[in-house]
Amino acid sequence: MEIRPLSTHTGAEVLGVDLARPVADADRETMYRAFVERSVLVVRDQALRPQQLARAIELFGTILAQHNSRFAIPDCPQIHYVSNQDRYPDGRRYIPGEGWHTDHSNAARPPKATALHAVQLPDEGGDTQYANMAAAYEALPTAMKERIAPLIGIHVYQSSHSARKLMGLSDTDKERVPNAALHPLVRTHPENGARSIYINPIRIEGVLGLDHEEALPLLDDLLEHATAERFQYRHAWKSGDLVMWDNRCLLHKANGDYDMAQTRYLYRVMLQGDVPR
Ligand code: SIN
Repeated sequence: MEIRPLSTHTGAEVLGVDLARPVADADRETMYRAFVERSVLVVRDQALRPQQLARAIELFGTILAQHNSRFAIPDCPQIHYVSNQDRYPDGRRYIPGEGWHTDHSNAARPPKATALHAVQLPDEGGDTQYANMAAAYEALPTAMKERIAPLIGIHVYQSSHSARKLMGLSDTDKERVPNAALHPLVRTHPENGARSIYINPIRIEGVLGLDHEEALPLLDDLLEHATAERFQYRHAWKSGDLVMWDNRCLLHKANGDYDMAQTRYLYRVMLQGDVPR
């Protein structure tokens, strides 16, 4: 097995491992260490069916039930799909994950990781972008670090301020999906100790104790700062990629910039995380 960095600050690719077969403990630990240090782990050349993907990802944690069960794979509901072929009820195409976000932050314990495994890709485009929120935090001026240190974000399923609308939930999903959670704007990574900005434009409704006139420009400023190109790693998908990223210290977004006559279809799975602190 070989592990190589993919940019100066974020991303590592793993070559020479087949996650459909038993993985040695030492290899699992090396991959997990690379995930914690580099935030995006790209395991190349995999061909995993949903059950195999579930088993592979359980090497790194406990699978978390995802929110919108309409995307669940029928015979393996722990695994969902991401596809450009779904439509909103009004007929508009639904591109999941377009716009910066971190996953399921309306949960008290949001997922530590999300993994996607490419099944079908467009000839060009459809990259996933990642913004390293720990690097962005480090680069903040001291006065801003002090300002946001005590602040708590209010996260909901769908923020009323979000330009991007999520696909609606069924009545059954509504009963089990958390309504809201409070999380610090600055969280400390439980495994590598790094502080990072923890915001989520599609789910953050406000900041505790601040009115919207103050909170929304602050969140906009943080987002603009954190998503500057110097903090980004942009993943151009290759057939067989399995990409697992760290939701505790990254924002990510999909790009709907390709020929929609072509299908982009990936399996998605999440791993349980801790309470952000
Ligand atoms: C997601 O946000 O889960 C999907 C990202 C992608 O499709 O690139």
